[in-house]
Amino acid sequence: MRKPFVAGNWKMNTDGNSSVSLAKAIACGSSNIVGRSVSVAVFPPFNYLTSVFKALNKSNIALGAQDFYFEPDGAFTGEISVAMLKDVGCNYALCGHSERRHVIGETDELINKKVDAAISGGILPILCVGELLDERKASQTNKVITRQIKKGLAGLNAEKISAVTIAYEPVWAIGTGLTATPQQAQDAHKLIRNLLAEIYEARLSEEIRILYGGSVKPENTAELMQQQDVDGVLVGGASLKADSFLSIIQAAV
Ligand code: 13P
Repeated sequence: MRKPFVAGNWKMNTDGNSSVSLAKAIACGSSNIVGRSVSVAVFPPFNYLTSVFKALNKSNIALGAQDFYFEPDGAFTGEISVAMLKDVGCNYALCGHSERRHVIGETDELINKKVDAAISGGILPILCVGELLDERKASQTNKVITRQIKKGLAGLNAEKISAVTIAYEPVWAIGTGLTATPQQAQDAHKLIRNLLAEIYEARLSEEIRILYGGSVKPENTAELMQQQDVDGVLVGGASLKADSFLSIIQAAV
């Protein structure tokens, strides 16, 4: 019912040439399945969005941004608006990625404004949530996820929420080689789906895709995807090589 979704977050990596060749290789290697049996999106750095958009050309691979600011325009030096993202061909944007929360210091309140602004401006937000290692050790995982979901989606009505994808990325699994076990991922995803059912309604909660992120590789994708509430993956490091990202796309179908 929920089509698998594979997203590649390139973070602050690639350059002008490598971003274009990576996009072309992904488009070429996945043309037989993308769109029909799996949704795929890539999230390059801002300054390569235009050239990657051209490189993706007529493929069904969507373009996304790693961040943006919630105000429509004005004196916000260094920031990028939702309309600017649309202008260069983006359909998606990440909101509240763990590195934005924990390195840059974004709050739940700011992330909530971004989710709302994205939807209002016609960009599909991917709201990222996930606990720190210390929070997991202190049995705070459910509490942290619940807070991030409730505050991140505050004030959004049912119509708006249907534009949202959630990504569960436990911070201790990002870039560490430590992946959550399929059961740990399923438990967190189930908690999120139950929260969505509680805030909105069961039918809507069944339609929203929840992705897992954190050291996703070709070898662990299939078993993660077998979990009932894991609808896709948000991939960092392994999305920077066409071979491994293509293997992940294949394994997600
Ligand atoms: P890694 O796949 O490198 O662990 O990164 C995950 C991530 O943060 C994707 O947004």
